[in-house]
Amino acid sequence: MTRWTAQIVEEKDAQAVARAGARAIVVALEQVLAQRSTASLCLAGGTTPRAVYVELAKAALPWSRIHFYFGDERAVARSSSDSNAGLADETLFGPAAVPAENIFVIAGDAPDLVAEAERYASLLPAHLDLLLLGMGEDGHTASLFPGASSLNERVKRVVSVVGPKPPPQRLTITPLVLDTARQTFLFVTGSGKAEVLAKAFGGVGDALPVQLTSRVTLFADTAALAKLGS
Ligand code: 6PG
Repeated sequence: MTRWTAQIVEEKDAQAVARAGARAIVVALEQVLAQRSTASLCLAGGTTPRAVYVELAKAALPWSRIHFYFGDERAVARSSSDSNAGLADETLFGPAAVPAENIFVIAGDAPDLVAEAERYASLLPAHLDLLLLGMGEDGHTASLFPGASSLNERVKRVVSVVGPKPPPQRLTITPLVLDTARQTFLFVTGSGKAEVLAKAFGGVGDALPVQLTSRVTLFADTAALAKLGS
């Protein structure tokens, strides 16, 4: 496996990561919008992005020119506290008054998740301008988990999966979407992720899902970077 790498932006703590990440997202989107009428931003799930979205919502961006997508979603309703779209509603879409027509959610509560995966794959842009991701302590990203068959998916761009992280039933983008994103921002904070982050950079041992990302800028706090060499 070629050694995975990322440009690292180190900050002292999670709040500083959120501020730096939000600033970088604004710059990246403004660069896209200087060239094109709209930009595509794919949001991450989990808890780390919460603070990023709160900061991002304060930006004076032309929200009506930005189309929002999701890298994964749990098989729950948008109103659920487990919903990634629900997190974005609370922290970003609501506070920034993002027009509803600009938000393309994965319907986690769809009765047929395979059909929903196909529907969502059909509306994802061929190349996301900016993909936001987090990483779990096992090196998963989006809902691509270690050892899952989805890591080898080379036909579909969105699949329904069952993962070890509750809630287990999810929909996720596949490596095909990771491969075609023009830019990827990865947000990793906390000492609990230091071990796996060092493994990801070290390139030893079993391949990790996060190593399938490309053109990555890693926004991390000092605690998460503590086990990387100099
Ligand atoms: C999800 C996320 C998942 C998340 C990591 C990190 O829906 O759970 O897509 O990939 O980014 O598990 O989660 P935390 O940010 O909560 O540590």
